Amino acid sequence: MNKSLQLSLDHTLLVWSNQKVLNPIHIKKAKGVNLYDDQGKRYIDFSSQLMNVYIGHGRQEITEVVRNQMTSLSYVCPPFTTETRGLLVEKLASITPDHINKTFFALSGAESNENAIILARLYSGKHKIIKHYRFYQGATMGAISAGGGPRKNHINNQQAPNFIHFENPYFYRCPWYSFSFEECGDRTIKNLENTLLYEGPDNIAAILLEDESGTSGCIEYPPYYLKKVNNLCKKYDMLLTID
Ligand SMILES: Cc1ncc(COP(=O)(O)O)c(C=O)c1O
Repeated sequence: MNKSLQLSLDHTLLVWSNQKVLNPIHIKKAKGVNLYDDQGKRYIDFSSQLMNVYIGHGRQEITEVVRNQMTSLSYVCPPFTTETRGLLVEKLASITPDHINKTFFALSGAESNENAIILARLYSGKHKIIKHYRFYQGATMGAISAGGGPRKNHINNQQAPNFIHFENPYFYRCPWYSFSFEECGDRTIKNLENTLLYEGPDNIAAILLEDESGTSGCIEYPPYYLKKVNNLCKKYDMLLTID
C-alpha cells in the first residue's frame, strides 16, 4: 500500500465512516474537473468535492492571488480588518439581494449554521428553531441537532434542545399519499402551520431550510413552496434562514 495512504489510515479519524473497513481513494493531483490517483487513474469530480470547488481544481491565477496575499499578510484576528476584506464584502453586498448587505465569515457549513441559529435567537429573543426532518446541516452539536435525519442517531442521540422537526414536501414518499406534487406541498405547509401552533409562534425564532435538500436526499420543492413558508414566517413573525 502507498505509504502516505497507510499513514492517513493509521493517524486520521475519517468522518461518517466505519473506520475498520475504510479504503479511501488516494488522490495525487487535480486539474479542472479531473482528479488523479497515485496510479494515474482519472476520476471526474461531478460534485465539485463537497460542492465547494465549483471553479475547478488547480487554477493558477487563484494560486497566485493566494500566494500574494500570504506573502503580504497571512492573518489578522476577527476584530481587525483589511483592504482585501473590505473589497470582498463590498462585492458580496452588490451581488446579494438588496436587504442582505452584511457578511459573517465562517470556515464551514456547520459553523455558519451555528451562527445563523445564534443570530436568529439574539435578534428575535425567541429560542425554538423549526426544521425539516430530512436535512443535513453539519456535524457540530447545534447543527447535527438541527438536522433531522435519522443517520445522526447512530452517533449522537444527546441532542441540543429546542430544535423541532416537520415533514419534508416529499412527493415520492408523501406521508399524506397526495395525488400531485402541489398537493403534497400544500399539505406540508398545513402540517408546518399546525406544528407552529402546537409549539407556539411566540417561542419560535426561525424556520431553517436548505434551499433544496441535498445530502439528505435531493428532495425537490413543489412550486412556490419557499414562498408559502415565507408567508407563514411573516404571518407568525418568525425569521426564515436558508442554508
Ligand atoms: C446543506 C448543507 N449544510 C451544511 C453542511 C455542512 O457543511 P460542512 O461540512 O462544511 O460543515 C452541508 C454539508 O454537506 C450541507 O450539505
